[in-house]
This record gives sequence, C-alpha cells and structure tokens, in this order.
Amino acid sequence: MPPLRITTVVGARPQFVKAAAVSRAIAAHNAAGPDRPIEERIVHTGQHYDDNMSRVFFDELRIPPPAVNLQVGSGPHGAQTAAMLERIESLLESDRPDWLLVYGDTNSTLAGALAAAKLHVPVAHVEAGLRSFNRRMPEEINRVVADCLAALLLCPTSVAAANLAREGVRRGVHAVGDVMYDSVLFNAKLAQQAGGGPARLGLAPRSYYLATVHRAENTDDPARLAGILDAFSRLDRPIVLPLHPRTRKTLGAELDRLAGHVRVIDPAPYLDMLMLERDARLVLTDSGGVQKEAYWFAVPCVTLRDETEWVELVEAGCNRLAGADPAAILSAVAAFESAGASLPPDRPADLYGDGRAAEKIVRLLTG
Ligand code: UD1
Repeated sequence: MPPLRITTVVGARPQFVKAAAVSRAIAAHNAAGPDRPIEERIVHTGQHYDDNMSRVFFDELRIPPPAVNLQVGSGPHGAQTAAMLERIESLLESDRPDWLLVYGDTNSTLAGALAAAKLHVPVAHVEAGLRSFNRRMPEEINRVVADCLAALLLCPTSVAAANLAREGVRRGVHAVGDVMYDSVLFNAKLAQQAGGGPARLGLAPRSYYLATVHRAENTDDPARLAGILDAFSRLDRPIVLPLHPRTRKTLGAELDRLAGHVRVIDPAPYLDMLMLERDARLVLTDSGGVQKEAYWFAVPCVTLRDETEWVELVEAGCNRLAGADPAAILSAVAAFESAGASLPPDRPADLYGDGRAAEKIVRLLTG
C-alpha cells in the first residue's frame, strides 16, 4: 500500500509540544513495519519565530525539522492568518495529502484547517471540543471554526466531547486523552537529567511561585495587566516569571519597576519549564497547557482568567479561577496556602487519559 501522507501544520509554542508526541507515535508506527507506513510533512507557519519560542522546542523535543517554514511572523490577526492561508493553500494544492493535522486554537490552526477544508483535504483536529464560551478570545473563535471544518475531532477530555455533542457534532468525535500528558510522562525524566529548573536560579524546591502571563485578554488590557502585576508585587514569596515576548513588549520600561521578588526570565525551554513547574509551590498562569502541567505535577494552580476550558481541574479543587483582580488572586493563593499548598488527596488521577493519546490518534488516522 502507498504510504499515508499527513501534512502537519504548527506555528506556536504549545503546538510544538503536542506535535512532538504525535510525531513520536508516527515513528513508532513506522518502526513496527506496518502495511501502511506514514509519511509526515511538517509545515511551520512561522507564527513563533524567536529561537526560544520555536527552535529550542524542535531541538529539545527532537521533532523532525519542518519541511517548510512559511515565515509569516507577527501581525494583526487578519493579516497573519491570511498570509498563512495563502501559503498553506498553495502547498496543499501541489501536495494533496491524505490528512491535514492541526493542533489547538491558534491562528495557525485556523489557517491550516480552512485552507485544507476548501481543497477537500480531510482535517484532523487535535484538542477538539474545548470551549471557554468567551467569543472575545481569538482562541475560542479559532477552535470553534477548526471543529466545524474537521472530519476527525480528537478530544482531550470527555467534557470536550460533550461540548461537541451539545453543538450537534457527533461524527468523527473521539475522546483520546491529552497528548500533553503523553509528553509530560515521556519528558519528565529527561528534564530531571538535563538539570536546570529552580536550582539554576538559586531557588529551593517549593520556595517559589511560578507565573506566566501572555494571553491577549490580559496583555492588551492595561487594567487587567496592572491588576495581575499588583498581585504579584504583594505576594510574599519569590515569583519566577518566564516572560512571553508579547508581554515583554507591552510592559517595556515598566518591567524595571517590578518588585524585587519578581524574577523575570526569558521564555523557558520545555524541559526547563517542566522542572520549574514540578518544583514550584504554586503556579499562577493564563496559559492552558501550564494549568494542566501543574495538575500532573500535583502543584496548585491559580488561573489568571475569568474562565477556563479545563473545567474539570476547577471542579476537582486543583485550580482556582481568579481573573485579574488583585484581591481575588491573593485570596486564591491564600486558600491554597492554608491547605499546605497541596492538592486535594482525593482528586481524580485520570482526567486526561492514560498517556497514550498520540498512539490512539495514529490508529484513528490510519484506520
Ligand atoms: C499565540 C496563540 C495563543 C497561544 C500562544 C502560545 C493565537 C491567536 N494565539 O499567542 O493561543 O497560547 O501563541 O505562546 O494564535 N512574538 C515575538 N516572537 C515570537 C512570537 C511572538 O516577539 O517568536 C510577539 C510579537 O510581538 C507578536 C506577539 O508576540 O505580535 C504575539 O504573537 P502571536 O503569535 O500573534 O500570538 P501569541 O501571543 O504568541
């Protein structure tokens, strides 16, 4: 049989982590000598282009190098998405793969899904069915459209599959688990061997809080960003803040006025970030992936958003939604601290599958 040809479109940091898990499962599939091997072609849109937002992830995670980099770079949503759409369309026209594989909810996801669907190339969407129910988020629009266009909807949780059912989408829906969980299980030991983490910053395990802030809803709203930084300055432990370039640009010279216990560092490579998460006393974040990684390392998480797609973490008492209001952030931290900065011992252990999501995805793609 001729090989199954898959074009994978990635562009932003979290997608590199997710795609690495599936590329590894594809390599395992091919190594087993199947009737139908898989030929994967990775297309990098160039949405993230700084070395520490992109190259370092390909290196550390040993992702096959992209066949093509579209180098679209930054820009307003319409212009950025349009540039990707045009270039992905012309690639797909000449290549005509069996599947177009996209991840998550970024502008790269939207462009890949839209270009493929118009050319009748079937779309597989990893991380389908997540909803914040907040259409002011660009991510929500991207994921709703990608789900409408996808033929194979690969959900990380049963909540995500139920969201799709409520929207009348049942065909092609599979709850496979979360590929980010596969990735943490695979990489935690490697991260430990690589060293790094808090020791490099002179910090002892469980002595510091780890924070990330990059969502447009926070960085592009001065009142929200000020509220979050105000809360950070009032917390009484060291805070490690690996800073996304978007946030760095917004803050500019204000960065110099942050309280001394807030340690701003460059965006952390994946393995380093895993160690920073594992050893943190508590995590404060507006990232989706970091909320789950905190749970996998049994670290409490305060989410700097008004809603989350990962509702099961809130229900299990592992995550508290605090938005950007300093009083709410401080009280969420205090609530976790009063419980010894540990998670409820009776929390469910298997919210995100069994660590074999990528394997299941490959089976569905080849099936
Ligand atoms: C994107 C995703 C978001 C995801 C995040 C992970 C969309 C709409 N958003 O947000 O869902 O959580 O990636 O990081 O797709 N920049 C650089 N260097 C880079 C990349 C970005 O300096 O390598 C700066 C640019 O000034 C750019 C800004 O960051 O304007 C925003 O980048 P963009 O890719 O548009 O969105 P993210 O904020 O990274």
